[in-house]
Amino acid sequence: MHREDFNILNSGIIYFDNGATTLKPKILGEAISDYYDNYSSNAHRGDYALSIKASQKYEETRYLVKDLINARKASEIAFTSGTTDSINKIVFGYFADKLKKGDEVLLTMSEHASNLLPWFELADRLGLKIKYIDLDDNHEVLMENVEKGITNKTKVISIAHISNVVGDVRPIKDIIKLAHKNNILVLVDGAQSVPHLKVDVQDLDIDFLAFSAHKMCGPTGVGILYGKEELLNDIKPIIFGGGMNADFNHDGTRIYKTMPDRLEAGTPNIAGVIGFGYIIKYLLDIGFENIHKYEIELKKYFVEKLEEIPEITIYNAHSQSGIVTINYDGIFPQDLSIYLDKYNICTRAGNHCAKILKEEIHIKNTCRISLYFYNSKEEIDKLIEVLKNPNIKEEII
Ligand code: ALA
Repeated sequence: MHREDFNILNSGIIYFDNGATTLKPKILGEAISDYYDNYSSNAHRGDYALSIKASQKYEETRYLVKDLINARKASEIAFTSGTTDSINKIVFGYFADKLKKGDEVLLTMSEHASNLLPWFELADRLGLKIKYIDLDDNHEVLMENVEKGITNKTKVISIAHISNVVGDVRPIKDIIKLAHKNNILVLVDGAQSVPHLKVDVQDLDIDFLAFSAHKMCGPTGVGILYGKEELLNDIKPIIFGGGMNADFNHDGTRIYKTMPDRLEAGTPNIAGVIGFGYIIKYLLDIGFENIHKYEIELKKYFVEKLEEIPEITIYNAHSQSGIVTINYDGIFPQDLSIYLDKYNICTRAGNHCAKILKEEIHIKNTCRISLYFYNSKEEIDKLIEVLKNPNIKEEII
């Protein structure tokens, strides 16, 4: 779908590392160049036409994000530098003040570093207890295991909507319903879900959501922090400077602005945020239901073909996303990735920043193929052909 929009795809590259970051359609570069070439100026700081235009375009994106995830208000959306930044701001700006010694934070063993390390840090500072929801035999999250993980000390569940290695779609709506019944707040890492399916924060009743523009055809350096208004009213900035303060004096007295400015200190990534606005419209035109449906169809096709290769182990054949994680018997995953690159096929090898998953699946490294709407069955056929190469091991040595 829409392959013609991506220059890199015309160069013979087969790009299967969409979990890490996606390719960018030409309109992104055009929108960013338009800003730099024609109305480059700071936002929210100038009383002249160029700056007013930059501010308007920047704020337009906030409204587009609001509609994209169905937030109630644009002020529930803050721009950050990425999912990691968003999660850190939520953990240290909100939860650092709300949690106390002995409180429990419920995570999973397949979370990304960005949804583990901030909690480890906070746990050390406050004396929190980190607990993990048991994963089932497919390394997925079942509601019965969420229930088992909750105690009367659980105060937060922080969980990826779709995990970045297993690619399982977590039952977020049910998790949140159960959490709220137990007065538990839920932080959702949407880095691997918002780009691929419709995420409606009101329908799911999400308390906090974090995701990145660059994993959905947008620019690097732009992230989104969503929170319910009543929670954000209580969030504290962890970055201080211009733009986020209403006033301050030499004696240190100061007044910080309300949301969303309070969380956007310093000159933001104006070009990136404006570019992301164009991308949201682009993706909405394609339709998230179409994207999700197509990716599932591609994954099914891919898994069926992979199953014909006896040397391949698939770790997540059944997960309902475009992430496929494999190993080839007797080949180190990084060697496999380097071998595939000789055929212009981009994949990711390693632990994919989910470094404690190895304690669960007992495999440290894997090769990940992550699909997006511009991938095709022909590209998958090419990958399968290269994996079936009878001389694969000789070529790697
Ligand atoms: N979080 C990105 C990934 O999973 C970088 O590859």
